Amino acid sequence: MRGIILSGGSGTRLRPLTKITSKQLLPVYDKPMIYYPLNTLIKAGIKEILIIVAPERAGDYLNLLGSGKEFGASFTYEIQDEPRGLADAFVIGENFIDDEDVVLILGDNIIEDDVSDEIKSFKGGAKAFVKKVPDPERFGVVKFDDKGKAVQVEEKPSKWISDHALIGLYVYDHRVVDLAKGVKPSQRGELEITDLHRWYLEKGELEVSEIKGEWIDAGTMESLHRAQIFAREKMKGKMVI
Ligand code: TTP
Repeated sequence: MRGIILSGGSGTRLRPLTKITSKQLLPVYDKPMIYYPLNTLIKAGIKEILIIVAPERAGDYLNLLGSGKEFGASFTYEIQDEPRGLADAFVIGENFIDDEDVVLILGDNIIEDDVSDEIKSFKGGAKAFVKKVPDPERFGVVKFDDKGKAVQVEEKPSKWISDHALIGLYVYDHRVVDLAKGVKPSQRGELEITDLHRWYLEKGELEVSEIKGEWIDAGTMESLHRAQIFAREKMKGKMVI
């Protein structure tokens, strides 16, 4: 199993802070934000990790994280020239992924759960994780039938279909690379990860699991503020890095 941290993007909602450095390097209590998704991967035993960064910030990442040796891991870096969407991670990561299964985590997602068992028990297809939210129109969402089986995946639905938002953690088998290469940009010009989920869903190979603990996407000023408090009160004992 390989890991990818997608840590590019523009971070416009966190300006002017993101004029100093990348959003995912900003402090969340006593650690740079990216330490939290990195912790999730390392805790799950993933040692080969690709970190995808925006070109203007690559030096900051190298300075901070280096080869990965300090973390008992091996880091590879790739540049994403512009934010072309989450599914672009698998196009950029083609050589890195090779024939392995892969976990993608977003560099600004803080997840309280230990997902080691979920990741270690992965047997192919795709696995996504959801959390109930009050504002599902802001996220990719999954609709379940009465038996709890995922039946529909929708990106930022304007009409309510479900409260279950997809969090920034996904596991796929190696087929995801060819799939991502075939995805056409959406109306907003991005390679949508929802298209990948839909493909696996239609094949009956998408497993969706609800996380129990807190999940924070620290991409807005308000959620970054919440993340600071959450990290201090709840994450300290859960960090291995
Ligand atoms: P977003 O928060 O949707 O985008 P952003 O980071 O550019 O922020 P803003 O909307 O404020 O301008 O991205 C979610 C995460 O995914 C974040 O960690 C950045 C990362 N990302 C990339 O690395 N490349 C991409 O092409 C996209 C769309 C996101």
